[in-house]
Order: sequence, then structure tokens, then C-alpha cells
Amino acid sequence: MAGAAVLLRPGGGSRAGGGVQIGGPFALVNGAGKTVTDRDFRGRFMLVYFGYTHCPDVCPTTLSDMASAMDKLPKASRARVAPVFITVDPARDTPALIGDYAQAFGSEIVGLTGSDAAVAAAEAAYHVYAAKHPLAHGDYGMDHSSIMYVMGPDGGFLGVINDGAKPAEIAQRLLDFGA
Ligand code: NI
Repeated sequence: MAGAAVLLRPGGGSRAGGGVQIGGPFALVNGAGKTVTDRDFRGRFMLVYFGYTHCPDVCPTTLSDMASAMDKLPKASRARVAPVFITVDPARDTPALIGDYAQAFGSEIVGLTGSDAAVAAAEAAYHVYAAKHPLAHGDYGMDHSSIMYVMGPDGGFLGVINDGAKPAEIAQRLLDFGA
């Protein structure tokens, strides 16, 4: 779902409008229960997306598009890109759940979760908007910003890709960023 907009300078760069830093350190947990940090992705590009496994619409579509985009990349470029799905719903997204969910869309997609504090820190680093909204029967959904972030091999922010982008466009943007 649409959330807080990220304002970007033309041509990207490490800062968004207003001098806001995008991205930064995170320490989360993958599907195998292993701690994964931003540093584990140094040397590769990251395509980072925040969402949650109970998402009824936007997250499944975006993850499917991310997986299709990976399929469209030349082999060498593909090896340089790590697609990463970080939950905004750590209460329900256990390591096994988010790991399996991400890999159901694409075997390369790394699903990450963590403690409330660890997830909140990752959200803050990426300026992600996420808020719980109640549903029937005590259930809940999460409103959340829906933006793909492209991070470079040095961990620096390169730019964003809007969630409506088709797989071919996502792949081309990754190539344009140097993947
Ligand atoms: Ni979603």
C-alpha cells in the first residue's frame, strides 16, 4: 500500500530529498534462523523490499515481479544482485515463515525478520512506513510503504524502484545502476 513518499534527487545518490540518509546497518534473522546483517551483502547489489507474509495483494505481486526481474537479468548480473524481503510484521513472520514465503517466489529471495526492535531499526534506516490496522475477529493487517530500494556493493543507497514497475523495467533499472 502507498505510504510515506521518498523524495529523491535526479540521478540518485546516497541521500534523498532533504538530505535524508536511506539504508544503513541492520541485523536480522533469515529462514534458517541465522543472523544476517547488511554487511553480508557487501560486494553485491541489494534489491530491498519491506512487507509481510499475510499481505493480501501488494507484497505477493511485488515479490513475484522481483523474482521475474531476476530471471530477466543476464547471468553475471543476476549473481551480483541479492533480492531481500524484510518483514514489517515480526510478531507473525517467524524466520521459517518469511524464509519459506520469500523462496516460494524466487529461490534467491532472502526473507528476513527479527525482534521488534531489530525490525523497527531496519524500518527506520530505510524510512519505511508501517502501521497495524485492525481486521475482523481480532486479526490485523499492516499498512506499509511499498518501494524497492537498490543498494550498491558498498552498501550505499543508489535509488528506488516503484512497486508498480514491471519485471523488465526492474531488471533494466538494476542494470542501469550497474548490476
Ligand atoms: Ni504488502
